[in-house]
Amino acid sequence: MDVIEAITNRHSQGKVRPDPLPRELAEKLLEAAVQAPNHYKVRPWRFVVLTGEGRNRLGEVMAVSQQERHPDLPSEAFDKCRALPLRAPVLIAVGVDKPGEPKVLEIENVCAAAAACENLLLAAHAMGLGAKWRTGEWARDAKVKEFLGFEADQHIIAFLYIGYPEFVAEFPPRPSFEDRTVWME
Ligand SMILES: Cc1cc2nc3c(=O)[nH]c(=O)nc-3n(C[C@H](O)[C@H](O)[C@H](O)COP(=O)(O)O)c2cc1C
Repeated sequence: MDVIEAITNRHSQGKVRPDPLPRELAEKLLEAAVQAPNHYKVRPWRFVVLTGEGRNRLGEVMAVSQQERHPDLPSEAFDKCRALPLRAPVLIAVGVDKPGEPKVLEIENVCAAAAACENLLLAAHAMGLGAKWRTGEWARDAKVKEFLGFEADQHIIAFLYIGYPEFVAEFPPRPSFEDRTVWME
């Protein structure tokens, strides 16, 4: 698939089928992700790939965290949290390394990891998969970070939900670059 075509026609697909993905496909996506540019070759991205029971374990952590913060909520609210990671057969949490030396900037590490996420989404699209980038409060949740092996002050910038698309929807073209661009000649 032509790269411009992939960029233009990629759209988030929140609804994917529950069928598991072969591990080789997930590996292809990660291989695409790590082709992203990154300053000082620090490769600041960290991926935690959750499939099968791993997603249930994350859901349990989310439910417990919610219960601790909002003990008065009805039990359905905790069930809802428990089910969040099950929205796709593969869920990839993307964390960002903190700079290990002064010349490395956190903002640049975040930029590089975000580029890796977009690479991954484009690869998924080119491979006929559906994917969606989510964050929400769970990306900042202390218990979720701990479960995934991230430090408390480390950023999680994405939960990438990936699976076989349930349907392929039509989308209108996105707004132009023009009102976001000035030319200095
Ligand atoms: C950093 C980041 C976090 C996002 N978090 C969420 C989210 O938590 N929930 C959501 O519905 N969309 C989220 N989005 C937006 C979707 O991933 C998607 O980009 C948006 O709905 C536009 O659709 P498109 O990808 O088809 O252009 C996020 C996007 C980015 C870049």
